[in-house]
Amino acid sequence: MLSNKQALIPYLLLVAALAGGLLWHESEMVPGMGRTVTTGQATVGGPFRLTDQTGKTVGDADFRGRYMLVYFGYSFCPDVCPTTLSVMAQALDKLGADSRRIVPVFITVDPARDTPKVLADYMKAFGPRFVGLTGSDADIKAVEKEYRVYAAKRPLENGSYGMDHSSVMYLMGPNGKMVSFYDEAISPDDLAKDLKQKI
Ligand code: NI
Repeated sequence: MLSNKQALIPYLLLVAALAGGLLWHESEMVPGMGRTVTTGQATVGGPFRLTDQTGKTVGDADFRGRYMLVYFGYSFCPDVCPTTLSVMAQALDKLGADSRRIVPVFITVDPARDTPKVLADYMKAFGPRFVGLTGSDADIKAVEKEYRVYAAKRPLENGSYGMDHSSVMYLMGPNGKMVSFYDEAISPDDLAKDLKQKI
């Protein structure tokens, strides 16, 4: 039997690979150089139209002028998602009045189970400022792609399923462009400190 912690290790390695690989090894051909270089300027984010936990349609443009702290996960996640959302909530608490400029956004990678109603109950655990978003399979796939999120179903022995997914918090600026990103291992203090610096 693996303990929960041991079971997490391959998962964390995957997260590290995704954060390192997908976000920063985005490379492009530079004309005339004949080789591929790493620019470190990956494009992350983009337009979306999803449904929030109250059933309202919400688009990326609705967040212009404010920062979004975006995290992808699913409400049935037993460990990493709730821990990370709680880190986000604690960091925003530490920011005090400045936190009003940042909207914490949770986008589900499991739209089949995360209906607006399910998200409404789930988001309550992390405080009233959280926006929980769901949508059609196609809409969710599209936004995952824009944010370079990896998510895949993993069947469980009980006939149910879990979702393997990358675990990165993205700080998106008032113009919708990515400002910074954080992996789930960051402490609430460090996250608050960095957010204060960046906003
Ligand atoms: Ni999760």
